[in-house]
Amino acid sequence: MAERIPVPAAREGTHCTAAQYEELYRRSIDDPDGFWAEEARRLDWFTAPTRIADWSYDPVAIRWFEDGVLNLCHNCVDRHLPERADDVAILWEGDEPGNVRTLTFRELHAEVVRMANALKQLGASKGDRITLYFPMIPEAAIAMLACARIGAIHSVVFGGFSPEALHGRIVDCASRFVITCDGGMRGGKLVPLKANVDAALAEGTPVEAVIVVCHLGNEIAFNPATDHWYHEMADLDGDCPCASMNAEDPLFILYTSGSTGKPKGVLHTTGGYAVWAATTFHYVFDYRPGELFWCTADVGWVTGHTYVVYGPLANGATTLMFEGVPNYPDSSRFWDMVERHKVDIFYTAPTAIRALMREGDGPVKKHDRSSIRLLGTVGEPINPEAWLWYWRVVGDERCPIVDTWWQTETAGIMITTLPGAHDMKPGSAGLPFFGVVPELVDADGQVLEGAASGNLCLARSWPGQMRTVYGDHERFAQTYFSAYRGKYFTGDGCRRDEDGYYWITGRVDDVLNVAGHRLGTAEVESALVSHPKVAEAAVVGYPHDIKGQGIYAYVTLVVDAEPDAALEQELRQHVRTEISPIATPDIIHFTPALPKTRSGKIMRRILRKIAENEFGSLGDTSTLADPSLVDALIEGRRNR
Ligand code: WT7
Repeated sequence: MAERIPVPAAREGTHCTAAQYEELYRRSIDDPDGFWAEEARRLDWFTAPTRIADWSYDPVAIRWFEDGVLNLCHNCVDRHLPERADDVAILWEGDEPGNVRTLTFRELHAEVVRMANALKQLGASKGDRITLYFPMIPEAAIAMLACARIGAIHSVVFGGFSPEALHGRIVDCASRFVITCDGGMRGGKLVPLKANVDAALAEGTPVEAVIVVCHLGNEIAFNPATDHWYHEMADLDGDCPCASMNAEDPLFILYTSGSTGKPKGVLHTTGGYAVWAATTFHYVFDYRPGELFWCTADVGWVTGHTYVVYGPLANGATTLMFEGVPNYPDSSRFWDMVERHKVDIFYTAPTAIRALMREGDGPVKKHDRSSIRLLGTVGEPINPEAWLWYWRVVGDERCPIVDTWWQTETAGIMITTLPGAHDMKPGSAGLPFFGVVPELVDADGQVLEGAASGNLCLARSWPGQMRTVYGDHERFAQTYFSAYRGKYFTGDGCRRDEDGYYWITGRVDDVLNVAGHRLGTAEVESALVSHPKVAEAAVVGYPHDIKGQGIYAYVTLVVDAEPDAALEQELRQHVRTEISPIATPDIIHFTPALPKTRSGKIMRRILRKIAENEFGSLGDTSTLADPSLVDALIEGRRNR
């Protein structure tokens, strides 16, 4: 029986009590159109929608609020000016402690208008794709909002991705514009963003112009044909009205890894995304005016899009943006910032919690955390031990914890407890958010009732659902709607307990979750085989204390190549430059061959078991072309 922790008493006027949850959830299922028409009113619409849900999973066509007209930048910035122009919208802290900058809504408005005018001056307009490549600085949010303001579609590429990865994402969506900065700092180290953009563009792209924000003042190469120093651009202060966007006009593309092929461009549209971001933020974080909300995610991931930028700002909240890392200058950095800025709501990833837990309670306890009211986690399953440490040490057994399950594809939170409503179970995300209908399905496609384990599907559309894979609707249909007809398949395995709580067990496809970062095994494999000395590679995940999953690569070499430590190092470096440091294999296992069936199919199940040190449960190995290989692989694993 899992531990159940009573949720601390709801504060006065909480946005949702247990009884209200029951009632609202019921209504969201029985009358989705009525429910979402009402929730949509938390936004300003130029034309209010009258048609609410219109979707089909077979064929796949998803539309919400389709006759509504709005602008998300207006909702995040302009509409707050009458009431809270002088309230802080973005509180930023740089890599060095105490390097702080604040932007009020008035200042944010002025900055966004300037950036939007800069884009227009260079010829950008509605529907253009614009690639953003930034560290965690306010200009990243400003550039996103500026795109939304003029109706351009942003594609934010995580600043930790390599030039190679950036190049692929620019080309895939044919961006004509890039916005970046000279460089960023992370943990005292310079990240040369502009140089990376130069390297990406050198390979050939449709990019016509690059706006370069000056952040650090580090030396950069300047190409007068394409580059524009943002601070040298003139005539940017004139008015720039918000474009009227249909609810189904695209808002952004965000690339994410799948089980096969190249990362896919997840497309979100304006109205449904805005409603999902605003509504989930309101209920899950129970936000009140004046509170400081800190989501530690990078804007390069969907968590940063929805809970650093759009969700908080659409609610008129103050969002804290942090350039640095949790362990610089030391491992008390988060709590030091919590104390100095008086953070009310703190939302981070299990991998960060596990890494900080390893440093002991001291770095936490030496800082005053009494401002914290609510804690949250996101991105991967949290082990009960880490959950309990977060609860006891960080939250002093006083703050509710929301463990929020969702995906890039869902736009925002889908399964969670609500802080004023639900008891918590360490390791369980909890209950479905409004309008969400989870189903557990077995291998034959049978829907399982009651307490059960299966593949997690969602039976109904929700406003924040991705609409397509950019430029490849067939891939969208194939990836998410072909495994179980008429349902959206999440790629996760899951258990539902006797209280209806959901326990995500992790991906059941060939997608890894490494320190909360999503990676396809196929991507890492293709990076490895692009090295001239590699013949074949098979990549699997294995349990890792801090990262949740580590990357285990089985590699066969071309004849003549030596499987030595130097080559191992070289391959690691190669993956870093092809994808990103986050994709670096933790273990490289050279082997003369990979286990294959007689028809030549790699038996990943066996490789996974060996990587997990589960030698006793390899299953049937008799169909292998060379069964003796298994013993050699086990031997090789034991030596690592
Ligand atoms: C995958 C989605 C959620 C935004 C950041 C990651 C895993 C996410 C949880 C959670 C267990 C979780 C799932 C999901 N995941 N949150 N609270 N408990 N697993 O978005 O990169 O699209 O990854 O992250 O496996 O499918 P993403």
